[in-house]
Amino acid sequence: MTISPTELPPLVVDAGFAAQRWAGPAGFATVVHPPEQGFYLRACADGLVLHHADAPARDRGLRIDLLDGSVERRAAGGRQSPLARALGLRRHPRPRVLDTTCGLGRDSATLAALGCSVVSIERHAVLFALLEDARARAQSAPPSWLAAWPRLIHADATRWLADTPDEEFDIVYIDPMFDAPRRKARPQKALAWMHELVGTDTDVALLLERARAAAMRQVVVKQHARATPIAPPDRQVEGKAIRFDIYLS
Ligand SMILES: C[S@@+](CC[C@H](N)C(=O)[O-])C[C@H]1O[C@@H](n2cnc3c(N)ncnc32)[C@H](O)[C@@H]1O
Repeated sequence: MTISPTELPPLVVDAGFAAQRWAGPAGFATVVHPPEQGFYLRACADGLVLHHADAPARDRGLRIDLLDGSVERRAAGGRQSPLARALGLRRHPRPRVLDTTCGLGRDSATLAALGCSVVSIERHAVLFALLEDARARAQSAPPSWLAAWPRLIHADATRWLADTPDEEFDIVYIDPMFDAPRRKARPQKALAWMHELVGTDTDVALLLERARAAAMRQVVVKQHARATPIAPPDRQVEGKAIRFDIYLS
């Protein structure tokens, strides 16, 4: 069941936890027992975790961890990686990037670790809460790249771009949710849950239009390798299962 960007699922706060450190993200209704169906958030000693009532009892839920080494692993490809090539990091090593679709924060964090200066936007209340919690927890041992990712904004990026014409970004990055890919193998849990939670971003054409008007140098759109481009791109960079469509300003 998709949860609209502004809908707030229940928040279970583990006994004694709220008093210790953190009362949970603002606005969520706190409940004592997990619901019998659908998604819910849990605030526990490990931070904020997304759970699904239908998941097996042993399931540990979905939590964003910026300190588990995965950001460094993704950035290890350096400037040769398809992401870095799509952003032109060899010629312009420190661009100002607006990531308009922050999601689980993987691309934002990787871009910061690759040397970009990153501002991110996420409109979905659940993902924004998970991201904020992950960023707050990362302050306990901040990796050097975190300083290059100083801002996370809770907004619809299309509207934010229209309302904030004065901020300048060299690159606007878009990685929308498309229809779930037809795969033989079962998708990773994070991907499957993202699809169930967020659904398909059907308004991406308007976001691209606004992004093209705002970007000083280019817009980069991440796509499945065989997906139809949202609009004819100026250039493309191919990865293994993905493709980056590039729109020059
Ligand atoms: C495919 S996920 C992005 C994954 C992300 N690149 C990562 O590395 O984790 C798409 C995300 O963009 C968000 N999104 C889509 N359109 C948006 C918009 N117009 N404004 C803000 N967030 C948006 C969705 O809520 C979803 O969380």
